[in-house]
Amino acid sequence: MTKIAVIGTGYVGLVSGLGFASIGHDVICVDNNCQKIEQLNKGKIPIFEPRLEQLLQTAVAQNKISFSGDLKSAVQACQAVFIAVGTPQNEKTGSADLSFVFSVAAEIAANINSHKVIITKSTVPVGTNLQIKALIQASKPAASFSIVSNPEFLREGFAVADFLEPERIVIGVEDQAGQAIMAEIYQSFQVKTPIVFTDITTAEMIKYAANAFLAAKICFINEMADLCEKVGANVQKLALAIGMDSRIGAKFLNPGPGFGGSCFPKDILALENIAKENNINLSLVTSTINSNQFRKEAMVQRIINAAGDVKGKIITVLGLAFKGNTDDIRYSPALTIIEGLIKAGAKIHTYDPQAMKNCQQYWGNNSSILYFDNQYLAVENADLTVIASEWDEFRELDLLKIRQLQKTNLLIDLRNILDGKKAREAGFNYFGIGGV
Ligand code: UGA
Repeated sequence: MTKIAVIGTGYVGLVSGLGFASIGHDVICVDNNCQKIEQLNKGKIPIFEPRLEQLLQTAVAQNKISFSGDLKSAVQACQAVFIAVGTPQNEKTGSADLSFVFSVAAEIAANINSHKVIITKSTVPVGTNLQIKALIQASKPAASFSIVSNPEFLREGFAVADFLEPERIVIGVEDQAGQAIMAEIYQSFQVKTPIVFTDITTAEMIKYAANAFLAAKICFINEMADLCEKVGANVQKLALAIGMDSRIGAKFLNPGPGFGGSCFPKDILALENIAKENNINLSLVTSTINSNQFRKEAMVQRIINAAGDVKGKIITVLGLAFKGNTDDIRYSPALTIIEGLIKAGAKIHTYDPQAMKNCQQYWGNNSSILYFDNQYLAVENADLTVIASEWDEFRELDLLKIRQLQKTNLLIDLRNILDGKKAREAGFNYFGIGGV
């Protein structure tokens, strides 16, 4: 078993740390946020992520995990040190802000006491790992270490399953010591999961290329949905049929209000920046960025068009998170939609199973938005209802009850999670996406 330090207890760090502990490694998770560490030591997970609390309880019971603010001791006690701190988007340039990554790398360098394998899990632009290597060499020339890139492909909401049953593991290495320890860490996956060993730069590129491809796939189906609507075709059937071609694949063909989250929007902008710096024209990536921005704004107009005018009307928005199963509201289409509708004069009533706290913090006191404890309270007396995130509990809405509570019969389903036929039978003037 390997002794592992994971620096950073955000989504990626926490899931990876608990994931490694659950497959038998001895893990120390480190964060400079003392409150977070205190919470974790009390057995509380600071984010909403299904199955994570259970993983924590098991790891604690088996004595496989500890949480600490002391990076020095963690680095000195472990053979492998994962960097999993945030790489937020620089709002001005669009490129990834690497200040946390570099400051952690400097701290690791200062505390190297034996050969260390230093692994980047954070999504970082191409070339960053070699910069980390140079930084460590410069600040501690005698240090013995291997540098490794091990990008993470987990999805929020399914992070534990994605970590424990990945479709592939990608490891960029440049020496035997790095390769050997990574093979040891992922030994239990070897039977079921392909492990792609490659060089560091290719591993960095793989992460961005995967996210850019998926983001483009979503934009593609969203644009097809618009055309389907105009020509009288059905995008759900279209997605089903094209997805049956294994070269296309059935996943990521759900049309919606545009993609959000902490990854796709940030990563495709960062990729576009890397390309610009290298004088390469990634026109498909640029189109993806533009198509998605246009999409989110077009959703506001779609709602206004369906309602006629929204001035003074109460619009219920069900779902605030950027997708179902998460409390994350970063770049959520629901935010763009709500802000656009308020600008057009509407009052918003809203409910989300997990993301309301984050929205209350984000918007602060805003008299145009009222939060409710459940979907039924939120729709009472509304002029129309908009479904903006695909929570399972919205799939199971009691449509007859909603119809009675809502003032009028307009229902706009931006995720196509309801059966249009049933909604119409329940008396709704139902609008899905893409002619459904
Ligand atoms: C994404 C990738 O799916 C992960 O593989 C990757 O590890 C992660 O980014 C990351 O780079 O860390 P995530 O942002 O959690 O994961 O969310 P997704 O489930 O991929 O959804 C992204 C957005 O696309 C959401 O807004 C979602 O609603 C939207 N989406 C997704 C669609 O509109 N249609 C689809 O068919 C699929």
